[in-house]
Amino acid sequence: MTDTLNTQYAEGQAPELVLEHVSRSYGQNLAVRDITAGVPAHKVSVIVGPSGCGKSTLLRMISGLDLPTSGVVTFEGQKVTGVPEGLAMVFQDYSRSLYPWMRVDKNVAFPLRHLPRQERDRRVRESIDAVGLSGREKLYPWQMSGGMQQRVAIARALASQPKLLLMDEPYASVDAQTRAELEDLLLEIQAELGITVLVVTHDIDESVYLADHIIVLSKPPSVVAETIEVDLPRPRDQITTKNDPRFVELRTHVTRLLRGVEEPAATARSTA
Ligand SMILES: Nc1ncnc2c1ncn2[C@@H]1O[C@H](COP(=O)(O)OP(=O)(O)OP(=O)(O)O)[C@@H](O)[C@H]1O
Ligand SMILES: [Mg+2]
Repeated sequence: MTDTLNTQYAEGQAPELVLEHVSRSYGQNLAVRDITAGVPAHKVSVIVGPSGCGKSTLLRMISGLDLPTSGVVTFEGQKVTGVPEGLAMVFQDYSRSLYPWMRVDKNVAFPLRHLPRQERDRRVRESIDAVGLSGREKLYPWQMSGGMQQRVAIARALASQPKLLLMDEPYASVDAQTRAELEDLLLEIQAELGITVLVVTHDIDESVYLADHIIVLSKPPSVVAETIEVDLPRPRDQITTKNDPRFVELRTHVTRLLRGVEEPAATARSTA
């Protein structure tokens, strides 16, 4: 691990997931320039950055679906070269991640088909319950709203009991009210299960609201502009937290970083 990361996590556990000088080119196009970052265990980390800065590319490299051109990704000390054990991913587009011909329970059970029946049924029941969809097991995805379908996708990810849950703009295609509900659902589930969560978003409010730890990416080809520890208390609440002067301060700070605007030294809180 690099010195920077050792210093950053000196007080706590070493990060579960580490990116060291990761870059990725597609032909002449340098999508990700040089990313060094850590994702601490049992916390919510958020990657925030402008469109096209390589966020999805980074998640693909973390999930072993794509490999860096240079640099290394390690998960629990092992170099990632394929999809790691204990990883689950929720994609932005739920309409493409669920099987339209399968009812909710079958969609959730699909990745568990190797498990004994009883265990599988128990996990399906528990994860459907966790996302508040008990009683809707026999619906087809097309009979549900977008927000409900995304809950099914989250239930499916939880049913595999992941250590690391990756989410690529999971709430980008739902309305604001549903988005707020799904943000709170994620925080509740994370607090209950203690899983490590890494969310990608380009929504600044969402990044501050969800995160313990924010990795702010620069414009492409991306590098880490800054990492921020979010010291807002938990449990969080859409109204109280978002009216907390500290929330407003952090949001302003992230906004400035993303716009590349300098801020007065007194208010800066750099850990990069
Ligand atoms: N498979 C690929 N082949 C070629 N170029 C790619 C591929 N995947 C990504 N890129 C390029 O890499 C860059 C980063 O793309 P990526 O999708 O990772 O960005 P992003 O930050 O997720 O954007 P958005 O916020 O719009 O989802 C873009 O220039 C994109 O065109
Ligand atoms: Mg993307």
